[in-house]
Amino acid sequence: MSIRNSITAQTKILCIIGHPIEHSMSPIMHNAVLQDLELDYAYMAFDVPPNRLKEAVKGFKALNVKGISVTIPLKEIIIRFLDEIDGIANKIGAINTIKNEDGVLIGKNTDAEGSRKAILDAGCEIKGKNILILGAGGVAKAICYTLAKDANKIVITNRTEVRAKKLAMELKKMIKVNAEGTNNSEITLRREIKTTDILINATPVGMYPLINKSPIEKEILHNQLFVFDLIYNPLETQLIKDAKVIGCRTLGGLDMLVNQGALAFEWWTNKKPNINLMKNKIIEFLGKK
Ligand SMILES: NC(=O)c1ccc[n+]([C@@H]2O[C@H](COP(=O)([O-])OP(=O)(O)OC[C@H]3O[C@@H](n4cnc5c(N)ncnc54)[C@H](OP(=O)(O)O)[C@@H]3O)[C@@H](O)[C@H]2O)c1
Repeated sequence: MSIRNSITAQTKILCIIGHPIEHSMSPIMHNAVLQDLELDYAYMAFDVPPNRLKEAVKGFKALNVKGISVTIPLKEIIIRFLDEIDGIANKIGAINTIKNEDGVLIGKNTDAEGSRKAILDAGCEIKGKNILILGAGGVAKAICYTLAKDANKIVITNRTEVRAKKLAMELKKMIKVNAEGTNNSEITLRREIKTTDILINATPVGMYPLINKSPIEKEILHNQLFVFDLIYNPLETQLIKDAKVIGCRTLGGLDMLVNQGALAFEWWTNKKPNINLMKNKIIEFLGKK
């Protein structure tokens, strides 16, 4: 891999914003592929609390920042400050990527397509499948919208039941999918999982530092499940460990992370990044911690 020597007056800026931001893996994977492709860009991370977001967006235009990744808790509230929104992101009501095209800020949701691609690349068919998704937050919503067009049924369970019901209603109305929203009690999960093909964890339960936690009891799992945990730190969560013991096919969050990042990278630079390099850089980084 060749290394770009230095930042110059021509170097273009890409960045990620969120609050907090210091745990983000995006600078690691994006700078690795920028160097690999010898592109004169630098990718930074900025901590932007929601009450400074409007100023930050003005700053992107003033400083001609070319591309911006957006993470928690800004994915929904940033929409009102942008000039254009890509179709599916409008439906989802959340974006995670912005491109600055000559001062016009366009928002897109690559979490949706990135998750879909990760599932398909892992050899799991989506068409006609029953999906059980744990969580009804921003990413759960993006995933539901992208999988709904092919799934047979989507059941959303959430700690705050009303959010799950609201998301199911929106899906039924907009995509005409068979969707149901409910609570995340053990009784509900036991009932729903019997007919589930694809189980997706879209909650932070099991994420570092509470790595021994799982959003679902091990003994409820069955070996016909494809289990997808969106969490990538740790790379193998308790849920994924349990699912492997039961004999399920599994997928961790790293593949989605690099796929959504690769889609953003290609949109900004018109170049295809090396996905394996992105993945390996993160594995190397997490391994050192
Ligand atoms: N792999 C990737 O590329 C990628 C990308 C983005 C996000 N993620 C991961 O996806 C997860 C969700 O992200 P998000 O942006 O959707 O977050 P979010 O909008 O904050 O939603 C979080 C969801 O998890 C539920 N939840 C939070 N804490 C919980 C707990 N202790 N027990 C049960 N449920 C709980 C929330 O329920 P309530 O409605 O009750 O609050 C909500 O439904 C995070 O773990 C994040 O790391 C992965």
